[in-house]
Amino acid sequence: MGPRKMDPPTLQVANQRFIPLVSKQVLGKSLTQIEKSTTPSIVNLDDLEQQAKQRLDQASYDFVAGGAGAEQTLRANREAFQKITIMPRVLTAIKEVDTSTDLLGQRLSMPIYVTPMANHAVVHPLAEIGSAQGAKKAGTLFIAPTGSNKTMEEVAASIKDSPRWFQLYFNKDPEVNKQLLQRAEKAGYSAIVLTVDLPVLGIRDRNVRNSFTLPKDLNRPKVQSERFAAATRGLEALTAGIKDDLSWDDYEWTRKHTTLPVLVKGILSPDDAEEAAMRKVPAIIVSNHGGRQLDTGLGAIEALLPIVEKVKGKTRVLFDSGIRRGTDVFKALALGAEGVGVGRPVLWGLALYGADGVAAVLEHLRAELVNVMRLAGVARPADITREYVKAV
Ligand SMILES: Cc1cc2nc3c(=O)[nH]c(=O)nc-3n(C[C@H](O)[C@H](O)[C@H](O)COP(=O)(O)O)c2cc1C
Repeated sequence: MGPRKMDPPTLQVANQRFIPLVSKQVLGKSLTQIEKSTTPSIVNLDDLEQQAKQRLDQASYDFVAGGAGAEQTLRANREAFQKITIMPRVLTAIKEVDTSTDLLGQRLSMPIYVTPMANHAVVHPLAEIGSAQGAKKAGTLFIAPTGSNKTMEEVAASIKDSPRWFQLYFNKDPEVNKQLLQRAEKAGYSAIVLTVDLPVLGIRDRNVRNSFTLPKDLNRPKVQSERFAAATRGLEALTAGIKDDLSWDDYEWTRKHTTLPVLVKGILSPDDAEEAAMRKVPAIIVSNHGGRQLDTGLGAIEALLPIVEKVKGKTRVLFDSGIRRGTDVFKALALGAEGVGVGRPVLWGLALYGADGVAAVLEHLRAELVNVMRLAGVARPADITREYVKAV
């Protein structure tokens, strides 16, 4: 990717939650140096988070970074990856690796996609459009959330025919669900991701501590349905609209009301995965919502292998929660995921550099994955199998 100029500072400060660009991060540099600041250069995604932390105010940073309760699940998501080691093969005669992959019939540049996240506008005024355009630039999939600050039509129009799925929070009002499903089909989304791990919102101590509410000047989604407008007026209102006693019947209802494949996001138990397979769910996403829902759960990657072994290929398996490194992507693929979602790092890239930042995050992960594949002696994502990892 060639050098790009960063957005002028004034454009980035479209909402009061942004600390102006002349912050700790840039103190000591002249304005000319700042203006010349070009392509995002990323050492690793943890460093990027620290840079974003300096740019955002505490409450916005915490909204994205935080997890539920004492954040044990959040930490476990990272720690669990350290308990898995990679066993490389050598003398493989591999010269080049190709990270491109098919994910439910869509050709992507990498087995890495942008997981659905509500309220991208908390970190950048381009909101979901910036993130979707970043995913497009990197040649991969964007999953638009129900809790979007831009309409799903605006997001779709901004990325033309780039791959996109729509994440559904199942609403208490069937009319709202019908409208959302119809709109998703019309706007060219090619799959529905039904999130099932949010009957209620996890208690996130950081948000409580900061008395976090969504900024008043956050772009409100322009919606066609008054009922949906009411359901998405604020985070609390949004969750108030979500059906809090979701069941497999609601899954079946969703499937009946769309021609698109309906995936299930937020499965951790092998028994739930088996039920999904039995019901011919085309794919499940093993995820603990990035540690934002149930605290003291297991690190999400620990849930992956038991599920893969239980479903025995009867449903496809994707994974998210805690992906920060190319090695993490490699491990998840080795344990049976066909693709992985990345969450918070995308928002750090968006906060710092808009769409280019999102593309840079994805490209960075891809470059790390290429490096791991070269070192482990694997040429293609499909060849990353169980033999390449060991649990310690
Ligand atoms: C700010 C934020 C908002 C989120 N909103 C949603 C959402 O609306 N729907 C959903 O299914 N998951 C949501 N998630 C969870 C992500 O899809 C994903 O499971 C999680 O972020 C992955 O973990 P990671 O951030 O460690 O990569 C959200 C996550 C974050 C960080």
